Amino acid sequence: MKKLVTLLLVVGFVAGSAFVAMAVAQDKGPAVIKLEAKKMGKTVITFPHADHQTRTDCITCHHKGTDDPAKMKCSSCHGVDKAAPNLKKAYHDKKKSPCVTCHKAEKGKSKAPQKCKDCHKK
Ligand code: HEC
Ligand code: HEC
Ligand code: HEC
Ligand code: HEC
Repeated sequence: MKKLVTLLLVVGFVAGSAFVAMAVAQDKGPAVIKLEAKKMGKTVITFPHADHQTRTDCITCHHKGTDDPAKMKCSSCHGVDKAAPNLKKAYHDKKKSPCVTCHKAEKGKSKAPQKCKDCHKK
């Protein structure tokens, strides 16, 4: 009997954790995100977020993890936390930015933006 209770407790715990993990994973954020670049003449980057979720894993961009949705804005660390490169580098570094590295690899294969004005639109 004692063993059965323990087993039920374990099963309950595992199921509970899985449920929490699912609930967290379900916050996929907005389908389209508009990011305003103030230093670039207030241009607006229309980022098709949901479309990108079909192209790669969350972690490619949200490299600090997806367990806390409140800490997933790039701008909550980049440009704030001194340990993080500035926001411009996070989005544009030729070798490290997930955006630029993937778009470069896509050159000639898709409409992935290559030039400044492909993203920074008035
Ligand atoms: C793949 C899309 C993309 C391309 C291509 C791109 N940018 Fe950006 N840029 C962004 C995003 C996204 C931000 C972040 C906007 C924000 O959240 O403040 C940004 C921010 C910036 C910022 C600093 C933030 C601000 O408020 O202005 C500068 C400066 C900038 N870009 C310049 C450039 C220049 C110059 C080029 C071309 C060499 C370029 N960008 C190409 C997407 C892009
Ligand atoms: C190609 C890059 C990329 C991928 C892949 C991606 N995201 Fe995002 N996500 C972003 C960017 C960029 C933002 C806007 C960041 C900002 O506002 O500074 C964002 C914003 C979010 C936000 C809103 C954060 C807030 O506080 O406003 C959530 C939630 C989120 N993403 C969840 C996810 C999940 C879950 C996945 C995987 C299923 C995912 N994202 C995949 C780039 C990506
Ligand atoms: C919770 C804080 C935090 C968030 C959110 C965050 N970053 Fe970072 N990022 C950092 C820190 C700190 C570093 C410095 C290296 C490290 O600790 O990983 C970094 C490094 C980077 C680098 C350089 C990678 C390298 O190899 O040096 C890029 C590019 C980058 N981040 C892009 C992004 C993008 C794009 C987003 C949003 C989709 C984002 N980051 C969200 C904290 C964050
Ligand atoms: C895994 C590859 C990959 C990554 C990572 C990626 N992109 Fe893209 N992106 C693409 C592809 C492919 C397209 C072109 C889709 C099409 O052909 O319509 C695209 C298109 C776009 C567009 C143009 C949308 C339009 O219809 O005009 C913007 C803006 C954009 N990406 C911004 C970003 C930003 C900002 C990041 C980093 C936070 C990023 N992308 C990361 C692959 C990627």
